[in-house]
Amino acid sequence: MDFPRHDTDTARAAHQALREHAQQTGERHLAALFEDDAQRFERLSRSGCGLLADISKQRLTTETLSLLSELARARGLQSWIECLFKGEDVNWTEQRPAMHWRLRDTKDRAPDVHAQLARMERMVDRILRGQWRGCEGDAITDVVNVGVGGSDLGPLMASFALSEQRPPRGHRPRVHFVSSMDGSQVAPLLQELNPATTLIVVSSKSFTTVDTLTNAATARGWLEREMPGRNGAVLRCHFVGISAQPERMSRWGIHEDNQLQFWEWVGGRYSLWSAIGLPIALTIGMQGFRELLAGAHDMDRHFQDTPWQDNLPVMMGLVDVWNLNFLNITARAVLPYDGRLKHLPSYVEQLEMESNGKSVTRAGENVTHHTCPVIWGEVGPNAQHAFYQLLHQGTQPVACEFIVAARHDRLNADGSEFKQLEDQHQLTLANCLAQSRLLALGEHALPADLELPAFKRYRGNQPSTTLMLDELSPRHLGSLLALYEHKVFVQAVLWGINPFDQWGVEMGKVIATDMIQVLESGQGGDNLDASSRALAERARRLNQD
Ligand code: F6P
Repeated sequence: MDFPRHDTDTARAAHQALREHAQQTGERHLAALFEDDAQRFERLSRSGCGLLADISKQRLTTETLSLLSELARARGLQSWIECLFKGEDVNWTEQRPAMHWRLRDTKDRAPDVHAQLARMERMVDRILRGQWRGCEGDAITDVVNVGVGGSDLGPLMASFALSEQRPPRGHRPRVHFVSSMDGSQVAPLLQELNPATTLIVVSSKSFTTVDTLTNAATARGWLEREMPGRNGAVLRCHFVGISAQPERMSRWGIHEDNQLQFWEWVGGRYSLWSAIGLPIALTIGMQGFRELLAGAHDMDRHFQDTPWQDNLPVMMGLVDVWNLNFLNITARAVLPYDGRLKHLPSYVEQLEMESNGKSVTRAGENVTHHTCPVIWGEVGPNAQHAFYQLLHQGTQPVACEFIVAARHDRLNADGSEFKQLEDQHQLTLANCLAQSRLLALGEHALPADLELPAFKRYRGNQPSTTLMLDELSPRHLGSLLALYEHKVFVQAVLWGINPFDQWGVEMGKVIATDMIQVLESGQGGDNLDASSRALAERARRLNQD
């Protein structure tokens, strides 16, 4: 496939125009930008798929967006979007397409995708109806997802976010997540569980990830110890595997009937739409899971069909490029004002930083500008009592991203309105809006006659985007997550990098294996640097005492 060229004279000219524009507009305070234009919100906010994205608190104007669009045009964004959805090998270092979007295309679903979804549905149905039995004949009460990275963060985040929804029928099991390789999650969890009613889901695209296989082996050892003499029944009744590598699942001992598959063309961090989403389906039911897929599909359509000026992923991608490359804002805080989105920051961290934390272009050259910003986050109201001090009065600019649901309906058991929780939602909304206002406007948001000593002052001008969901339903969450995915793709096109590989994490796995030998036997340490050798030696000594 002959992909559009990345760096052309037009692209360089667009870049230069943006640099010049940044010197004027980028220096203006947000308070002045709001004062200049009474229509600023109308001009700089867009909605679609049950979401509103307000970028009017970003340090830019409509002219900035036009210039950024020029750059995107020069970088061939339109052709890249077409390549993505045609299934071309956009992941060029691994020579494969990135077709996570295909998992949510209900009309055009390929037979392989459809078959796995149907298989997953049967599994979910049996578990929820109590028909999936442990080897002692008990129904399943607890499901443990063992995975890491994309095989953990997506399902964890979405299951947690949607856990107020319940499957329409059946009895929902408790769903737990185990990821950390040191066993500090799996050990206390297993102590609390009843082996006879526990189902372990081993989720790993590659089925080689040591973190996951070690935790899975610990769980297997526990089940076999607790239910001795059951031969293969423990594996048959208590283990499900989800992977793109069926032979490896079989070799590990997962029974063929308990295997769910997905494909190499689904990146790990893009995989929650596949069978990797099993914990989500167990939490909200299969109908809810299909709604999640439908919401993501809505955004796929929006991304392909909507003109750029109204296109949410394009607009958000352009904003991030502006902040990083032209305003030199190298950090972004993801701030959900909703406890249900507690795991969203970690999910976005992997999605964006593993995708775009790259520095080599498709031509094999080093990039000449920054790529992904450093991203971190926390539930907004909690972060207000932790790191907002730095946002308000620290020395560095940080682009903030507020995510909030306009409505959050909660009822008492008898179906009546739960007034106190309604009030708590209003309080949270108020905090979200007040914080983004104060961060943007600084003292301009405060009474004019307020005189503050230097240490109490708020300089403002901290840019932010507010993403307001109509409500946090499976459909809207699906749209929100697909928005993030496509935004990452837009950025990658503008930066000329591959967002679908992750070579930077591979070597760590290899050299850790060598280090085990040093720790266990003391052999091989001579080749290490002085620091690593001394640390390994100290740990070895303390372990021998
Ligand atoms: O180490 C990074 C990574 O490869 C991620 O991209 C991936 O989501 C995670 O490990 C888990 O990989 P797997 O699903 O193959 O176990």
